[in-house]
Amino acid sequence: MLLAQDPHKGYPDAMKRNRVLSGMQPTGDLHLGNYLGALKQWVVLLGKEDIDPLFCIVDAHAITVEYDQKSLPSRVIDAAATYIAGGLDPEKATIFVQSEVPEHTELAWYLASVTPMGDLQRMTQFKEKSDQHKQNINAGLFTYPVLMAADILLYRATIVPVGNDQVQHLELAREICRKFNSRFGKVFPEPQPRLSKTPRIMGLDGKSKMSKSKNNTIGLLDPPKLIEKKLRSAFTDPEKLRLGDPGHPEICNIYTLHEAFSPPEELLKIDAACRSGELGCGDCKKSLCGAVTAELDPIRERTLELRAKPQYVSDVLDAGRDRAREIAGSTMNDVRRKMGLGRGG
Ligand code: ADP
Ligand code: TRP
Repeated sequence: MLLAQDPHKGYPDAMKRNRVLSGMQPTGDLHLGNYLGALKQWVVLLGKEDIDPLFCIVDAHAITVEYDQKSLPSRVIDAAATYIAGGLDPEKATIFVQSEVPEHTELAWYLASVTPMGDLQRMTQFKEKSDQHKQNINAGLFTYPVLMAADILLYRATIVPVGNDQVQHLELAREICRKFNSRFGKVFPEPQPRLSKTPRIMGLDGKSKMSKSKNNTIGLLDPPKLIEKKLRSAFTDPEKLRLGDPGHPEICNIYTLHEAFSPPEELLKIDAACRSGELGCGDCKKSLCGAVTAELDPIRERTLELRAKPQYVSDVLDAGRDRAREIAGSTMNDVRRKMGLGRGG
């Protein structure tokens, strides 16, 4: 067991395995933050036999900001191709599209009735996104975390691997879960966040977290030359201006990336040589570039191969949808019954 106690004890579903649920929006190509904070961590959870992993492409979340409806379907396929190429083996994980399981939006409506407005008003991502999209602050953007809670609770998931910025949403999902259970009886186990060792990757500017909206990313599909170019101008320890100056790896973003991509013995060498001043930032970035491209090259190649086979990806998503709907249908029968919806029975 991954959790100390059986998280399903006393709940109706006779599940013996911990269910993992996570998702990402199909908005553009993934970057290193998404990879290190989420996707790589998802893959780590696959091999464990007491885990039932489900991953969702959350297209219904993507419509809460301006988007292009013509390209959304191909971005969904591209996202699925990237997940598979990044290591999500469809034989071991259920991969599906959120809008193809309408129970997500149904449950979100029911959960909204136990969600305090004040909690939604506190969400920092809502505040940030409303600042970024002043011309379109819609109710969907405001209730976004309720749909996210529905994504998780619908599968009675107990483990939710996400980056740091989603922890507040998860706290709200836990609160909604408790409120629902205490009002209607035990239906959902409480989900727990699972953070990777690198839950908050900073952008290349060193100023804010790496994010597609900040133009400070290394893309998972960037070719090696572009990665090299981006790293060359990346922010490092501001006190290390020239070769010979002693550096401070603990505050350097390049070192954080080395921690994610370079082997432990290499890290020890880099740490010592940076502190002594013997290793300059240029050389340190070159070796990082080598380590990053060694890991990303096969992912990029496989993603491009899979994107050229949309039928295969589509078949994976069909199978994922069927399995997800089976679980979702059973949870919703329980939810409607407990809430007294419909004619009973
Ligand atoms: P973005 O901020 O680029 O819009 P998303 O909000 O779509 O990214 O995030 C998708 C997943 O990737 C989430 O689990 C999120 O926590 C994780 N993630 C995003 N950016 C980072 C980052 N800079 N460091 C670590 N994890 C991140
Ligand atoms: N809100 C998450 C993000 O922006 C995406 C998401 C939607 C999610 N539903 C989820 C993540 C359920 C984990 C579990 O990244």
